[in-house]
Amino acid sequence: MARESDGEAPALMRLHVVAFGCQMSVADGGEMAGPLLARGFIPVKDSKDADAIVLNTCTVRQHAEDKALSMIGRLRAWKEADPDRVLIVSGCAAERLGGWIRERFPYVDLVVGAKSIEDYPRIVETALAAKFEMLRETREAFAAGGGAPAAPIGWSSPVVAPVTVMRGCNYSCSYCIVPRVRGREAYRPYEAVMAEVRAKAAAGAREILLLGQTVNSWRVVAGDGRQRRFADLLRATAAVDGVARVRFESPHPRFLDDELIAAFAETPAACDHIHMPVQSGSDRVLSRMRRNYTAASFLERIERLRAARPSIEVGTDIIVGFPSETDEDFERTLELVGRLKPATAYTFKYSPREGTEAAERTEDVPAQVKEERLARLNELCDGLTEDAMKARLGRTVEVLDETGGYGRARDAFRVKWETPAEPGRLRKVRITGTMKRTLLGECE
Ligand code: 5AD
Ligand code: SF4
Repeated sequence: MARESDGEAPALMRLHVVAFGCQMSVADGGEMAGPLLARGFIPVKDSKDADAIVLNTCTVRQHAEDKALSMIGRLRAWKEADPDRVLIVSGCAAERLGGWIRERFPYVDLVVGAKSIEDYPRIVETALAAKFEMLRETREAFAAGGGAPAAPIGWSSPVVAPVTVMRGCNYSCSYCIVPRVRGREAYRPYEAVMAEVRAKAAAGAREILLLGQTVNSWRVVAGDGRQRRFADLLRATAAVDGVARVRFESPHPRFLDDELIAAFAETPAACDHIHMPVQSGSDRVLSRMRRNYTAASFLERIERLRAARPSIEVGTDIIVGFPSETDEDFERTLELVGRLKPATAYTFKYSPREGTEAAERTEDVPAQVKEERLARLNELCDGLTEDAMKARLGRTVEVLDETGGYGRARDAFRVKWETPAEPGRLRKVRITGTMKRTLLGECE
């Protein structure tokens, strides 16, 4: 698969990574890229320019899965134009549908399910050994020609670094496919997480994003024999040289305990933002969802957090049209949203996932009702987002410049300004306007 560039030294191989779904999927896409980057691939932003594509899939809702599958379909022409190209399909839908994907899309070189991520470097090496051998020769020829490889341009900002601390989920929310495709919880050792945090900070990361399906359930006995919990990890991460901010995703309400709230209060680097899915405001629905909390107990946790950290903004996820959801249940959801006042909310129509408990239920909410509820909920949530954005007009906020004139405030709002632009710098930006979901401002 060596390619000639203008008859001179062979060009470097180009890798495109695309990830559907959550932050973990994006981070996993980055890990999938690792073994290829180590073999000399350079990242490119456009799939058309790529010699290899890693497509990390999501299966949380049918719609997410369909988007990933249709992209695999569209890549047929790209792959067939040059069979030496490499197409790797990975992630949650690959775990659920591996065999079917191989049959339906025979031109895919490698299908790696979400449970195999740890093993992935070995899998990719074995599967693609012959191709990589050619690639190594390409690299050596290029190096001999005196050209230095272009500096890798990451697909995520190198200023914000994801660090996976745990994988999997031990709960059994009745609508959710994730425990099936990701397996049970596994925690990374304290030392390994901290080593990665230090390495990424040393390489220029200013914000660390601690990741896991139920990230705050992380707990391990460290090498010194002492038990470490997520609150300890938050403090330790914040204390690393160069780390200005720490975020985490996704927390489980059960582990937003007093210890973690206290850690928030005493760790200035912990961001003013928490994204914690509530899913519904009806206790009857929450119980059928097997969420193990009530609307009131969820609110109580958030109120405690707000008392400890008044500047915190809350984001959440909500599902409408869960089987048997009545108008009355839905009113409870609107009521909860009115009290929770999330600055951002991701809202979804319930999507049955094969093999989950809820998919067995027959009390389906009609499609049109789901649609109407979603529209009403979105109107309420959009209004709250707008209010929060307007409240920022005229205020000065601290923004971490991620890509040169663009970044996030401590409360996770996106902010754009003109100059000066310098990735990695913390800036004070005065907010002067809004554009869709982005705040516009001027650097002080
Ligand atoms: N149907 C609709 N939404 C779902 N989510 C998870 N499973 C489903 C489903 N079966 C939503 C939840 C979760 C987010 C990642 O996706 O709100 O928090
Ligand atoms: Fe999608 Fe869930 Fe997998 Fe993330 S963990 S990629 S949201 S199915």
